[in-house]
Amino acid sequence: MTPTTSRHWVLAKKPTDLPIIAGPDATFRLVTKPLAPIEDGQVLIKILYLSNDPAQRLWIDPNITPDRLYIEPVELEDTMASYTCISEVVESKSKDMPVGTIVIADAGWREYAVMPAEACMPIKAIDDLKPVHYVSLFGLAGVTAYYGLVDIAQTGSNDAVVISGAAGAVGSVAVQIAKNVLGCKKVIGIAGTDAKCEWVESLGADICLNYKSTNFGEDLKKATEGFVEVFFDNVGGEVLDLMLKRVKKDGRVAACGAIADYNSNERAGIKNWYQVIAMRLQIRGMVVTDAIPTGRWTGMVDSLIQAYQEGKIRATEEGLTIVPTRFEDVPKTWMGLFEGRNTGKMLTQLV
Ligand SMILES: NC(=O)c1ccc[n+]([C@@H]2O[C@H](COP(=O)([O-])OP(=O)(O)OC[C@H]3O[C@@H](n4cnc5c(N)ncnc54)[C@H](OP(=O)(O)O)[C@@H]3O)[C@@H](O)[C@H]2O)c1
Repeated sequence: MTPTTSRHWVLAKKPTDLPIIAGPDATFRLVTKPLAPIEDGQVLIKILYLSNDPAQRLWIDPNITPDRLYIEPVELEDTMASYTCISEVVESKSKDMPVGTIVIADAGWREYAVMPAEACMPIKAIDDLKPVHYVSLFGLAGVTAYYGLVDIAQTGSNDAVVISGAAGAVGSVAVQIAKNVLGCKKVIGIAGTDAKCEWVESLGADICLNYKSTNFGEDLKKATEGFVEVFFDNVGGEVLDLMLKRVKKDGRVAACGAIADYNSNERAGIKNWYQVIAMRLQIRGMVVTDAIPTGRWTGMVDSLIQAYQEGKIRATEEGLTIVPTRFEDVPKTWMGLFEGRNTGKMLTQLV
């Protein structure tokens, strides 16, 4: 039977610190809303998987004003936004998108959505890949890794590269691109546990360092002896500060993410800024969706698929952390990103 309502998670309070999952100050609230009947050219989709992205925290931050953000912020009572959800068309008034089509759509935290068919992108089957790979290896994560290394940091085979957040969605693809596609002379990963570091090394990193270990500062110095040309930064904070001292003169930093700071009003701050000046470092911020209007996005997906078909990047089991989740627990699963509960891309599978 066609559903007439859908549950949504809406933004109840903008968090100034770590989002709050339950209680009177909870960041999100579960509500039920009616579903509009579908019109010509529209489809009704059932959301199967939600993408979890650290950046969602920035979209709900009260201290970031809309003129300093790259998308519309989520306002109070809005459905919580998310990037790419994998969904199934369950009712259709579009001749191009029959019932049963598996699509990618930006629907946010809800169970069902009525969408224009053109806002839903059918997933093309390639080799043995599953739909979930189109929102990880060949989706935002893979494309961000490619864009940051190639377009932003202009990384090549003569470069030694350090990648922070190396066991995460973006970082784990970046390690493989750096080593196996670009042939970088040395790839150094940084991640939060020894087990994660082992996995990063199995992907091709020459070494991966645990930033929570007591020897991290010394280990980093040793691994970057002679300094490195490129730093692909997913975390910001103290790791970035340390890395400013390890990038070679005229070296490049792709500033991709700053998860260390997303939940904190008391940021440590950068102490080594003088290194940027003395060493003429080039630090370039990036937002990967800039590559959509230029058509560059599609080209990068093609390059990633080619690299996959040549065995240079792999769809490993650890590359996906799929968390079966009741709709009631969607915010809890998302918070796992900030607790380091994932390797590779963390997806919420709605059960
Ligand atoms: N600029 C862009 O266009 C763009 C696009 C996509 C993503 N990003 C950014 O890239 C970064 C990685 O995104 P992702 O989707 O690949 O996420 P992710 O790395 O898969 O997930 C988050 C990981 O960050 C680490 N982490 C959590 N809290 C941390 C903290 N306080 N300090 C240091 N590390 C922490 C954890 O790994 P450990 O266990 O290793 O700590 C966690 O598993 C994020 O900062 C994100 O905002 C930017």
